[in-house]
Amino acid sequence: MQYSIEKYGTVTSTNDIVKEKAAAGAPEGTVVLADRQTAGRGRLGRQFFSPDASGLYMSILLRPRLAAADALSITTLAAVAVAEAIEAQIRRNVQIKWVNDIYLDAKKVCGILAEGQAGTEGSLAYAVLGIGINLTEPQEGFPDLLRDIAGSVCKQGESCDREKLMWDILQNFSKGYACLADKPHYDGYASRSMLQEKTVTVFVGGEPRCTAEVLGITSDFGLRVRMQDGSETVLQSGEVSVKIQ
Ligand code: BTN
Repeated sequence: MQYSIEKYGTVTSTNDIVKEKAAAGAPEGTVVLADRQTAGRGRLGRQFFSPDASGLYMSILLRPRLAAADALSITTLAAVAVAEAIEAQIRRNVQIKWVNDIYLDAKKVCGILAEGQAGTEGSLAYAVLGIGINLTEPQEGFPDLLRDIAGSVCKQGESCDREKLMWDILQNFSKGYACLADKPHYDGYASRSMLQEKTVTVFVGGEPRCTAEVLGITSDFGLRVRMQDGSETVLQSGEVSVKIQ
């Protein structure tokens, strides 16, 4: 994929800027990178804390030839692309928490949000792939609500190369994207799964529903779980989220 990178200082959300560009006909590979977001958002309507000078906030415009139902391949590929790029930079392993959060030392260091625009007959007109990485802890620390959950790729005082990380992610992503239908990232995804054999609480629409034991990742990136009554089921992303007990 040919990338064209546009850098901004402060934006509301890089996903919003890329959506505007998509509507105006921008080509696949348009990338917006910002220093800070005032309205960064995450999955399930959550905010994404995006302070100045301590994160990598970027969105990529994609025009995939995919059914909207297969969009999960894109976000899981992005998770593997980010995981590999972080590991190359810090020479440590990270984990992926289904569906697409990246964890280091049991703290979330990256979130991924893909937003699609439906086209005709169940296709995707375009998708905006937003990636937010906490590179360093902000000077004033993470806000109280995030303190126990959020972490950063580099320790305070260590230098983190934002440009290199961005280019590594983009390169890793485009390799897999070229043959996305073959799911070339499946092994890289499943082998980093943080939930394997863990007992989780399943949330539907934000409400806790039940507990389950995680058995694995299916070939289409669902989460296979065993319920308390012994039955097995596959959770698909969307309104479902899980929390380790
Ligand atoms: C999540 O943790 O649920 C996903 C977070 C995604 C954050 C990124 S930062 C760049 C892009 N712009 C946004 O507003 N969100 C994504």
